[in-house]
Amino acid sequence: MQETVKVGMIGVGAVGERVLKSFLGHHRTQVAALCDVNEERLAEFAQKVPEADLYTDYLHMLNDETIKLVYLAVPPKYHSSIAIDILKSGKHILCEKPLANSIEESLKMKVLAERTGLVHAMNFPMAYSNEKLIIQQKVQAGEIGKLKRIEMNMHFTEWPRRWQQNAWISSREQGGFIREVTPHFIQLIHSLFGELKVIASFVEYPEDRESCETGFVARMELEGGIPVIFNGSSGIGQKEHLSMKLFGDEGAIDLVNWKDVILTKGDSDAESVKVEAKSELNLVAECVKAMDRSGGFVIDFKDGHQVQIVLESLLNS
Ligand SMILES: NC(=O)c1ccc[n+]([C@@H]2O[C@H](COP(=O)([O-])OP(=O)(O)OC[C@H]3O[C@@H](n4cnc5c(N)ncnc54)[C@H](O)[C@@H]3O)[C@@H](O)[C@H]2O)c1
Repeated sequence: MQETVKVGMIGVGAVGERVLKSFLGHHRTQVAALCDVNEERLAEFAQKVPEADLYTDYLHMLNDETIKLVYLAVPPKYHSSIAIDILKSGKHILCEKPLANSIEESLKMKVLAERTGLVHAMNFPMAYSNEKLIIQQKVQAGEIGKLKRIEMNMHFTEWPRRWQQNAWISSREQGGFIREVTPHFIQLIHSLFGELKVIASFVEYPEDRESCETGFVARMELEGGIPVIFNGSSGIGQKEHLSMKLFGDEGAIDLVNWKDVILTKGDSDAESVKVEAKSELNLVAECVKAMDRSGGFVIDFKDGHQVQIVLESLLNS
Protein backbone atom coordinates (compact mmCIF):
# COMPACT_ATOMS: atom_id res chain seq x y z
CA MET A 1 0.00 0.00 0.00
CA GLN A 2 1.27 3.48 -0.84
CA GLU A 3 2.13 5.71 2.09
CA THR A 4 -0.03 8.68 3.02
CA VAL A 5 1.72 12.00 2.43
CA LYS A 6 1.37 14.28 5.45
CA VAL A 7 1.10 17.90 4.35
CA GLY A 8 1.73 21.11 6.27
CA MET A 9 0.30 24.41 5.01
CA ILE A 10 2.03 27.71 5.81
CA GLY A 11 -0.25 30.70 5.11
CA VAL A 12 -3.92 29.82 5.04
CA GLY A 13 -5.34 32.84 3.22
CA ALA A 14 -7.39 33.15 0.05
CA VAL A 15 -5.40 30.83 -2.22
CA GLY A 16 -4.72 28.40 0.63
CA GLU A 17 -8.43 27.77 0.71
CA ARG A 18 -8.45 26.67 -2.95
CA VAL A 19 -5.43 24.44 -2.66
CA LEU A 20 -6.77 22.85 0.54
CA LYS A 21 -9.62 21.44 -1.58
CA SER A 22 -7.07 19.73 -3.84
CA PHE A 23 -5.26 18.20 -0.87
CA LEU A 24 -8.55 17.03 0.64
CA GLY A 25 -9.58 15.60 -2.74
CA HIS A 26 -6.49 13.43 -3.20
CA HIS A 27 -6.44 9.96 -1.69
CA ARG A 28 -2.73 10.08 -0.80
CA THR A 29 -2.54 13.47 0.95
CA GLN A 30 -3.53 14.30 4.51
CA VAL A 31 -3.40 17.88 5.74
CA ALA A 32 -1.73 17.30 9.10
CA ALA A 33 -0.68 20.82 10.09
CA LEU A 34 -1.70 24.41 9.48
CA CYS A 35 0.30 27.54 10.20
CA ASP A 36 -0.63 31.19 10.02
CA VAL A 37 0.52 34.23 11.97
CA ASN A 38 -3.07 35.44 12.03
CA GLU A 39 -4.61 33.40 14.86
CA GLU A 40 -8.17 34.36 14.01
CA ARG A 41 -7.76 33.26 10.40
CA LEU A 42 -6.00 30.09 11.52
CA ALA A 43 -8.86 29.15 13.86
CA GLU A 44 -11.45 29.81 11.17
CA PHE A 45 -9.53 27.77 8.58
CA ALA A 46 -8.92 24.94 11.06
CA GLN A 47 -12.65 24.23 11.14
CA LYS A 48 -12.23 22.68 7.69
CA VAL A 49 -9.48 20.36 8.93
CA PRO A 50 -10.22 19.79 12.63
CA GLU A 51 -7.63 17.04 13.01
CA ALA A 52 -4.70 19.25 11.89
CA ASP A 53 -2.09 20.53 14.36
CA LEU A 54 -2.05 24.32 14.52
CA TYR A 55 0.98 26.61 14.57
CA THR A 56 1.63 30.33 14.49
CA ASP A 57 5.38 29.82 14.08
CA TYR A 58 6.29 27.81 10.99
CA LEU A 59 9.66 26.78 12.46
CA HIS A 60 7.78 24.71 15.05
CA MET A 61 5.78 23.03 12.28
CA LEU A 62 8.99 22.18 10.45
CA ASN A 63 10.18 20.22 13.51
CA ASP A 64 7.46 17.63 12.86
CA GLU A 65 9.35 14.94 10.98
CA THR A 66 6.19 13.16 9.86
CA ILE A 67 5.32 16.08 7.56
CA LYS A 68 6.82 15.40 4.16
CA LEU A 69 5.35 18.14 1.95
CA VAL A 70 4.87 21.81 2.80
CA TYR A 71 2.61 24.12 0.81
CA LEU A 72 3.75 27.74 1.12
CA ALA A 73 1.13 30.45 0.48
CA VAL A 74 2.24 33.54 2.37
CA PRO A 75 2.65 36.99 0.74
CA PRO A 76 5.53 37.08 -1.82
CA LYS A 77 8.14 38.87 0.27
CA TYR A 78 8.20 35.99 2.75
CA HIS A 79 8.46 33.19 0.15
CA SER A 80 12.22 33.11 -0.03
CA SER A 81 13.20 32.94 3.65
CA ILE A 82 10.45 30.45 4.55
CA ALA A 83 11.06 28.27 1.48
CA ILE A 84 14.74 28.08 2.35
CA ASP A 85 13.88 26.92 5.89
CA ILE A 86 11.46 24.33 4.49
CA LEU A 87 14.09 22.90 2.15
CA LYS A 88 16.70 22.92 4.91
CA SER A 89 14.30 20.90 7.08
CA GLY A 90 14.38 18.20 4.37
CA LYS A 91 10.75 18.56 3.31
CA HIS A 92 9.39 18.72 -0.22
CA ILE A 93 7.83 22.06 -1.11
CA LEU A 94 4.93 23.36 -3.17
CA CYS A 95 5.34 27.15 -3.36
CA GLU A 96 2.96 29.80 -4.56
CA LYS A 97 3.82 32.09 -7.43
CA PRO A 98 5.64 34.40 -7.91
CA LEU A 99 8.57 32.37 -6.64
CA ALA A 100 10.08 35.31 -4.78
CA ASN A 101 10.22 39.07 -4.52
CA SER A 102 13.50 39.60 -6.40
CA ILE A 103 15.82 37.78 -8.80
CA GLU A 104 18.44 37.38 -6.05
CA GLU A 105 15.92 35.61 -3.83
CA SER A 106 14.56 33.34 -6.56
CA LEU A 107 18.08 32.38 -7.63
CA LYS A 108 18.99 31.41 -4.06
CA MET A 109 15.84 29.30 -3.81
CA LYS A 110 16.46 27.57 -7.13
CA VAL A 111 20.09 26.77 -6.32
CA LEU A 112 19.27 25.35 -2.90
CA ALA A 113 16.23 23.41 -4.15
CA GLU A 114 18.25 21.76 -6.91
CA ARG A 115 21.01 20.87 -4.47
CA THR A 116 18.67 19.14 -2.03
CA GLY A 117 17.09 16.86 -4.63
CA LEU A 118 13.73 17.48 -2.95
CA VAL A 119 10.59 18.20 -4.97
CA HIS A 120 10.32 21.96 -5.49
CA ALA A 121 7.04 22.60 -7.24
CA MET A 122 5.04 25.75 -7.86
CA ASN A 123 1.35 26.45 -8.19
CA PHE A 124 0.65 27.70 -11.72
CA PRO A 125 -2.92 26.42 -12.17
CA MET A 126 -3.07 27.19 -15.91
CA ALA A 127 -0.28 24.68 -16.54
CA TYR A 128 -2.72 21.92 -15.54
CA SER A 129 -5.78 23.35 -17.25
CA ASN A 130 -7.87 22.15 -20.16
CA GLU A 131 -7.57 25.60 -21.73
CA LYS A 132 -3.78 25.34 -21.89
CA LEU A 133 -3.98 21.83 -23.30
CA ILE A 134 -6.39 22.89 -26.04
CA ILE A 135 -4.30 25.91 -27.00
CA GLN A 136 -1.16 23.77 -27.04
CA GLN A 137 -2.82 21.15 -29.24
CA LYS A 138 -4.10 23.76 -31.69
CA VAL A 139 -0.75 25.50 -31.93
CA GLN A 140 1.09 22.19 -32.40
CA ALA A 141 -1.44 21.07 -35.02
CA GLY A 142 -0.58 24.22 -36.99
CA GLU A 143 -4.08 25.71 -36.72
CA ILE A 144 -2.78 29.27 -36.46
CA GLY A 145 0.22 28.66 -38.73
CA LYS A 146 3.46 30.38 -37.89
CA LEU A 147 3.36 32.52 -34.73
CA LYS A 148 3.73 36.21 -35.62
CA ARG A 149 2.87 38.05 -32.43
CA ILE A 150 1.39 37.74 -28.92
CA GLU A 151 -0.66 40.43 -27.25
CA MET A 152 -1.67 40.25 -23.60
CA ASN A 153 -4.17 42.80 -22.33
CA MET A 154 -5.27 43.01 -18.72
CA HIS A 155 -7.65 45.68 -17.48
CA PHE A 156 -9.01 45.81 -13.97
CA THR A 157 -12.00 47.75 -12.71
CA GLU A 158 -10.02 48.27 -9.55
CA TRP A 159 -6.85 46.96 -7.96
CA PRO A 160 -6.94 45.32 -5.51
CA ARG A 161 -10.10 43.62 -6.62
CA ARG A 162 -13.05 43.85 -4.24
CA TRP A 163 -12.71 40.19 -3.26
CA GLN A 164 -9.00 40.40 -2.67
CA GLN A 165 -8.56 43.12 -0.07
CA ASN A 166 -5.46 42.61 2.03
CA ALA A 167 -2.56 44.69 3.23
CA TRP A 168 0.07 43.55 0.74
CA ILE A 169 -1.65 43.21 -2.62
CA SER A 170 -1.85 46.94 -3.32
CA SER A 171 1.68 47.66 -2.12
CA ARG A 172 4.51 48.63 -4.45
CA GLU A 173 6.84 46.43 -2.44
CA GLN A 174 5.17 43.09 -3.21
CA GLY A 175 1.74 43.67 -4.73
CA GLY A 176 0.27 45.04 -7.94
CA PHE A 177 -1.18 43.24 -10.92
CA ILE A 178 2.19 42.92 -12.65
CA ARG A 179 3.47 40.75 -9.78
CA GLU A 180 0.14 39.04 -9.18
CA VAL A 181 -1.19 38.32 -12.66
CA THR A 182 1.57 38.43 -15.27
CA PRO A 183 3.52 35.41 -13.87
CA HIS A 184 0.69 33.09 -14.97
CA PHE A 185 0.95 34.30 -18.56
CA ILE A 186 4.75 34.52 -18.61
CA GLN A 187 4.87 30.89 -17.49
CA LEU A 188 2.27 29.90 -20.08
CA ILE A 189 4.20 31.60 -22.88
CA HIS A 190 7.49 30.05 -21.69
CA SER A 191 5.93 26.60 -21.75
CA LEU A 192 4.42 27.04 -25.21
CA PHE A 193 7.03 29.07 -27.05
CA GLY A 194 10.24 29.37 -25.00
CA GLU A 195 11.75 32.15 -22.97
CA LEU A 196 10.79 35.79 -23.15
CA LYS A 197 13.22 38.67 -23.24
CA VAL A 198 12.05 42.10 -22.09
CA ILE A 199 13.05 44.83 -24.54
CA ALA A 200 11.34 47.76 -22.83
CA SER A 201 8.71 48.29 -20.17
CA PHE A 202 6.97 51.47 -19.06
CA VAL A 203 5.23 51.30 -15.70
CA GLU A 204 2.82 53.97 -14.43
CA TYR A 205 2.68 54.64 -10.69
CA PRO A 206 0.49 56.89 -8.56
CA GLU A 207 2.09 59.68 -6.54
CA ASP A 208 1.87 57.70 -3.31
CA ARG A 209 5.22 55.91 -3.24
CA GLU A 210 3.86 52.99 -1.25
CA SER A 211 1.17 52.07 -3.77
CA CYS A 212 1.51 49.64 -6.67
CA GLU A 213 1.34 50.45 -10.37
CA THR A 214 -1.79 51.63 -12.14
CA GLY A 215 -0.68 50.75 -15.66
CA PHE A 216 2.09 49.38 -17.85
CA VAL A 217 3.05 48.66 -21.43
CA ALA A 218 5.89 46.29 -22.26
CA ARG A 219 7.50 44.97 -25.37
CA MET A 220 9.17 41.59 -25.14
CA GLU A 221 10.50 39.14 -27.69
CA LEU A 222 10.62 35.42 -28.22
CA GLU A 223 13.51 33.76 -29.99
CA GLY A 224 13.64 34.93 -33.59
CA GLY A 225 12.38 38.38 -32.56
CA ILE A 226 8.66 37.50 -32.40
CA PRO A 227 7.08 40.44 -30.58
CA VAL A 228 5.13 39.95 -27.34
CA ILE A 229 3.25 42.97 -26.04
CA PHE A 230 1.84 43.18 -22.52
CA ASN A 231 -0.53 46.00 -21.68
CA GLY A 232 -2.41 46.56 -18.43
CA SER A 233 -4.23 49.10 -16.31
CA SER A 234 -6.45 49.44 -13.27
CA GLY A 235 -9.22 51.88 -12.44
CA ILE A 236 -10.99 51.23 -15.73
CA GLY A 237 -14.75 51.75 -15.98
CA GLN A 238 -15.49 48.27 -17.24
CA LYS A 239 -15.66 44.75 -15.94
CA GLU A 240 -12.24 43.10 -15.48
CA HIS A 241 -11.04 41.82 -18.83
CA LEU A 242 -8.02 39.67 -19.64
CA SER A 243 -7.01 38.47 -23.06
CA MET A 244 -3.94 36.67 -24.29
CA LYS A 245 -4.05 36.52 -28.08
CA LEU A 246 -1.70 34.47 -30.21
CA PHE A 247 -1.55 35.76 -33.78
CA GLY A 248 -0.35 33.38 -36.46
CA ASP A 249 -0.13 33.75 -40.23
CA GLU A 250 -3.10 31.40 -40.67
CA GLY A 251 -5.23 32.15 -37.64
CA ALA A 252 -5.39 33.49 -34.11
CA ILE A 253 -6.27 32.08 -30.70
CA ASP A 254 -7.52 34.28 -27.90
CA LEU A 255 -7.64 33.12 -24.27
CA VAL A 256 -10.18 35.41 -22.64
CA ASN A 257 -10.67 35.77 -18.89
CA TRP A 258 -8.66 32.61 -18.20
CA LYS A 259 -11.30 30.24 -19.52
CA ASP A 260 -12.72 31.17 -22.93
CA VAL A 261 -10.77 30.02 -25.96
CA ILE A 262 -11.65 31.77 -29.22
CA LEU A 263 -10.27 30.70 -32.58
CA THR A 264 -10.25 32.85 -35.70
CA LYS A 265 -9.13 31.60 -39.09
CA GLY A 266 -8.72 33.76 -42.16
CA ASP A 267 -11.86 35.75 -42.96
CA SER A 268 -14.16 33.45 -40.98
CA ASP A 269 -16.04 34.62 -37.94
CA ALA A 270 -14.45 33.96 -34.56
CA GLU A 271 -15.39 30.57 -33.19
CA SER A 272 -15.72 29.73 -29.53
CA VAL A 273 -13.78 26.53 -28.85
CA LYS A 274 -15.55 24.04 -26.60
CA VAL A 275 -13.24 23.40 -23.67
CA GLU A 276 -13.76 19.75 -22.87
CA ALA A 277 -12.32 18.17 -19.75
CA LYS A 278 -9.30 16.60 -21.41
CA SER A 279 -6.40 17.44 -19.14
CA GLU A 280 -5.68 14.65 -16.73
CA LEU A 281 -3.17 16.72 -14.87
CA ASN A 282 -3.81 17.63 -11.27
CA LEU A 283 -1.33 19.70 -9.27
CA VAL A 284 -1.44 17.66 -6.07
CA ALA A 285 -1.42 14.31 -7.86
CA GLU A 286 1.60 15.40 -9.91
CA CYS A 287 3.46 16.57 -6.78
CA VAL A 288 2.83 13.20 -5.12
CA LYS A 289 4.09 11.37 -8.24
CA ALA A 290 7.23 13.54 -8.17
CA MET A 291 7.73 12.66 -4.48
CA ASP A 292 7.32 8.98 -5.35
CA ARG A 293 9.96 9.47 -8.07
CA SER A 294 7.50 8.16 -10.60
CA GLY A 295 7.36 11.07 -13.02
CA GLY A 296 5.13 13.95 -12.05
CA PHE A 297 4.61 17.10 -14.08
CA VAL A 298 5.65 20.02 -11.92
CA ILE A 299 6.61 23.59 -12.67
CA ASP A 300 9.76 23.78 -10.60
CA PHE A 301 11.92 26.51 -9.06
CA LYS A 302 14.05 26.69 -12.19
CA ASP A 303 10.91 27.60 -14.17
CA GLY A 304 9.86 29.94 -11.36
CA HIS A 305 13.22 31.68 -11.47
CA GLN A 306 12.94 32.18 -15.25
CA VAL A 307 9.51 33.75 -14.71
CA GLN A 308 10.98 35.95 -11.96
CA ILE A 309 13.66 37.27 -14.30
CA VAL A 310 10.99 38.45 -16.75
CA LEU A 311 8.76 39.77 -13.97
CA GLU A 312 11.52 41.88 -12.43
CA SER A 313 12.52 43.19 -15.87
CA LEU A 314 8.91 44.22 -16.50
CA LEU A 315 8.95 46.15 -13.23
CA ASN A 316 12.44 47.58 -13.45
CA SER A 317 13.50 48.03 -17.07
N1 LIG B 1 -1.51 30.36 -7.88
C1 LIG B 1 -2.54 31.19 -7.88
O1 LIG B 1 -3.44 31.13 -8.73
C2 LIG B 1 -2.59 32.26 -6.82
C3 LIG B 1 -3.78 32.96 -6.58
C4 LIG B 1 -3.79 33.94 -5.57
C5 LIG B 1 -2.63 34.19 -4.83
N2 LIG B 1 -1.48 33.49 -5.10
C6 LIG B 1 -0.24 33.70 -4.34
O2 LIG B 1 -0.38 33.05 -3.08
C7 LIG B 1 0.28 33.80 -2.05
C8 LIG B 1 -0.75 34.13 -0.98
O3 LIG B 1 -1.80 34.88 -1.54
P1 LIG B 1 -3.23 35.02 -0.82
O4 LIG B 1 -4.11 35.74 -1.78
O5 LIG B 1 -3.67 33.72 -0.28
O6 LIG B 1 -2.83 36.01 0.37
P2 LIG B 1 -3.59 36.21 1.76
O7 LIG B 1 -3.11 37.50 2.31
O8 LIG B 1 -5.06 35.95 1.59
O9 LIG B 1 -3.01 35.01 2.65
C9 LIG B 1 -1.69 34.95 3.10
C10 LIG B 1 -1.70 34.37 4.51
O10 LIG B 1 -0.35 34.20 4.95
C11 LIG B 1 -0.30 34.53 6.33
N3 LIG B 1 1.09 34.83 6.69
C12 LIG B 1 1.81 35.94 6.44
N4 LIG B 1 3.08 35.79 6.92
C13 LIG B 1 3.14 34.55 7.47
C14 LIG B 1 4.18 33.84 8.14
N5 LIG B 1 5.40 34.33 8.31
N6 LIG B 1 3.88 32.59 8.60
C15 LIG B 1 2.63 32.07 8.46
N7 LIG B 1 1.62 32.72 7.84
C16 LIG B 1 1.87 33.95 7.35
C17 LIG B 1 -1.26 35.70 6.46
O11 LIG B 1 -1.69 35.88 7.80
C18 LIG B 1 -2.40 35.28 5.53
O12 LIG B 1 -3.41 34.55 6.20
C19 LIG B 1 0.88 35.01 -2.76
O13 LIG B 1 2.20 34.72 -3.11
C20 LIG B 1 0.04 35.16 -4.01
O14 LIG B 1 0.75 35.76 -5.06
C21 LIG B 1 -1.46 32.54 -6.06
